[in-house]
Amino acid sequence: MSTAPRIDIDPVSFWADPYPTLARMRREAPIVFVPQLGSTLLCSRDDISISEKQIDVFSSHQPEGLMNRLMGHNMMRKDGEDHQVERRAMFPAVSPKTVKAHWTAQFQAHADRIIDAIAPGSRIDFVRDFALPFSAECLKSITGLTSLRFEDMNAWSQAMIDGIANYAGDPAVEARCHAATAGIDAAIDDMLPVVSKKPDQSLLGVMVASGMPMDSVRANIKLSISGGQNEPRDAIAGTVWALLTHPSQLDLVLGGEVPWMQAFEEYARWISPIGMSPRRIARPWAIRDVAFEPDERVFLMFGSANRDERHFERADEFDVRRDVSKSVAFGAGPHFCAGAWASRAMIADVALPTLFARVKNLQIAGDEPVRIGGWAFRGLLNLPVRWNA
Ligand code: HEM
Repeated sequence: MSTAPRIDIDPVSFWADPYPTLARMRREAPIVFVPQLGSTLLCSRDDISISEKQIDVFSSHQPEGLMNRLMGHNMMRKDGEDHQVERRAMFPAVSPKTVKAHWTAQFQAHADRIIDAIAPGSRIDFVRDFALPFSAECLKSITGLTSLRFEDMNAWSQAMIDGIANYAGDPAVEARCHAATAGIDAAIDDMLPVVSKKPDQSLLGVMVASGMPMDSVRANIKLSISGGQNEPRDAIAGTVWALLTHPSQLDLVLGGEVPWMQAFEEYARWISPIGMSPRRIARPWAIRDVAFEPDERVFLMFGSANRDERHFERADEFDVRRDVSKSVAFGAGPHFCAGAWASRAMIADVALPTLFARVKNLQIAGDEPVRIGGWAFRGLLNLPVRWNA
């Protein structure tokens, strides 16, 4: 265990709203041991930005970790050249060029089709009826698993996320995760003959074409599903909610003074869909007066870094005019999100402008509270709206 000062948390209130506690940690102990999480947390942007690049100390290789055991050994749990080889193989499917030339039009078709199916004037849950199916349809295209139902993509993503956070070892949670990975393996088996015969630009297509061993292909597809469904879903619903609850800022965007990309990036800074990423200490190390032991677990708190007062004025406020270049919502090192360009296109080039162009007077319904939660993964649980198309 590290020699970091200890701060206790109440897991229930930390899940409901982690920001006051994270602010206290940044103030009193930016490197802090939290017994309820069994880990040492790095909470300041500078410490995270420096440490994430020191892969010989802050290693992603966690052989005993739940992710390896339940989902196979993927690129996010590798360091150095082992990691870079797989990243290079995957890149042609998610590069800015491929996203622009190939995926954006497909994302647009998904958005229009889903909006066409929603009855004007109805009251819907925006998370369930737009953000969730849209993210899942886009992810089916990117992964190449087009035979899946969007409901499966969403359910399997959630089952894997629950599985890799199942530190209590709940057998029902583990069983659901195993069922999800078996479902994905079957979907990959369905598509393999198709992409082998006619290689395409999907993740499955480019990884198979690169000659990557199939175990790694399967593990990286599962990784992309676990990390590529909830995050865009939460970022789309969250940005819509943030703009509807800050009407003067929505006017700035609708008036063209502030781009949609800026609104999305500010939301992802303000409420980071991925609030934490784990690392294993690979050798004895110290930061200032805190000493770390080999093999202990460290959490890089992206959600805290994005509210670090040293880098963001009025950090707790949503402000679409602020400079977000220091945001680490997509990571701060070699594991920088491989899906960042696809997400930006999906959310800021397609979902947000299409939505506000086609639904003239979208309003929060106001007849049910909007619920939000989470610290490792954070997002809206619902968003009841009046769909005044
Ligand atoms: C708003 C949407 C998204 C956010 C905020 C997000 C955030 C992140 C973050 C913070 C990391 C880095 C984790 C670390 O450093 O340990 C990451 C990694 C990753 N993300 Fe995303 N992500 C998003 C969407 C996606 C999508 C749509 C895909 C798939 C197409 C995806 C695929 C990946 C992969 C494969 C990695 C691992 C990269 C590596 O290890 O080199 N992400 N993401």
